[in-house]
Amino acid sequence: MALSRRKTLALLGGGFIVAAGTGAALEITRTPRTAAAPWGKAGGYSDPRMQALSYAILAPNPHNQQPWLVDLSTPGEITLLVNQDKLLPHTDPFSRQITIGLGCFLEVLRMAALEEGYEAQMDIFPEGSDAAALDNRPVARIRLEPTTAAPDPLFAHVLDRRSLKEPFDTTRPVPAASLAALKAAVPGARIGTSADAEFIAEYRELTTDALEIELLTPHTFKESVDVFRVGARATDAQPDGIDLTGPMIEFARLGGQMTEARLMDASSISFREGMRATLENSMTAMGYVWLTTATNTRADQIATGAHWVRVNLAATAEGLGFQPLSQALQEYPEMAELFARVHAELAPDGGTVQMLCRLGYGPDVAASPRWPVEAKVVDA
Ligand SMILES: Cc1cc2nc3c(=O)[nH]c(=O)nc-3n(C[C@H](O)[C@H](O)[C@H](O)COP(=O)(O)O)c2cc1C
Repeated sequence: MALSRRKTLALLGGGFIVAAGTGAALEITRTPRTAAAPWGKAGGYSDPRMQALSYAILAPNPHNQQPWLVDLSTPGEITLLVNQDKLLPHTDPFSRQITIGLGCFLEVLRMAALEEGYEAQMDIFPEGSDAAALDNRPVARIRLEPTTAAPDPLFAHVLDRRSLKEPFDTTRPVPAASLAALKAAVPGARIGTSADAEFIAEYRELTTDALEIELLTPHTFKESVDVFRVGARATDAQPDGIDLTGPMIEFARLGGQMTEARLMDASSISFREGMRATLENSMTAMGYVWLTTATNTRADQIATGAHWVRVNLAATAEGLGFQPLSQALQEYPEMAELFARVHAELAPDGGTVQMLCRLGYGPDVAASPRWPVEAKVVDA
């Protein structure tokens, strides 16, 4: 639930005043200093594995949990593991979405290696996997082998790619040519797109209803609150999760509005305004893109991630804002009705709707936080 600066003005509520001395003023104007530094360090490594990984950590992933760990103890090899502490058991009970995020990571790694003249040969879940839960077994074993294959043109957009959690311009339609460009980025994938007025009207309501269910269901909303990083200082200290930054957040934080108790209290100003801003964003969609798979194996989920980040990069190339809206696709009982409806409509022949995203034109935003690549290297 990222809140835009404009929307969070409302967090202040009627007559809520902070006595801003110099210290408080400095806090309010503080912006994160180091949280996005890994975006500037990507591409600055001499070891080919670290070079590829320095881009891979910039991949999109659920709640920005960055659940990846890499073991480099075998020369020339990368073993990708999943950090069990970063799973999202309430909104992602089978770790389907976490696996998609790992698929995004592997695809960016593949493109980055290719850029340097290496083919990333990947063995996915080399020791097997469990469809119900991720465990300590490797997600992938990767070897980099020299190649003369041409680089991937989508790689050029890796540093500019964003998930855009802001309102879109409802006067600017999404052109058919841009939807075609998204499809062209993923030959062979089961991809659907629409900028049809009736579809937009229906899915604005549906995705908003699904968000409302997530926010009003305490155990699923708590999963977000648990990873909120409130303010620049907290975001720099822990550059993952859902970062809430900007002067108004700092102002509300200093005024005691951003405590866990306030955020979880559905009658508080913080909760209501956060919810209003989030729901308003989904009502500004100007088009949609979605991916489905016939089966729902771990390999399908990894492949979905590879496709997904490619679609995101193609949207970046088109200048299109892109925000996944995953709530209606999530496998918990309170969502069952909307889950069934989305599946009946977007995967009428059966299968799994893996990703759904709103499209439109929105503001430029800063890159999201990342832990440095070095923080993700383990010696197993
Ligand atoms: C599987 C998956 C599901 C996601 N679902 C949502 C979502 O429901 N809402 C949202 O705003 N962003 C969603 N995202 C985007 C992430 O929040 C985003 O990738 C992460 O915060 C990092 O930001 P970045 O993509 O701008 O680098 C999803 C991403 C992935 C890979």
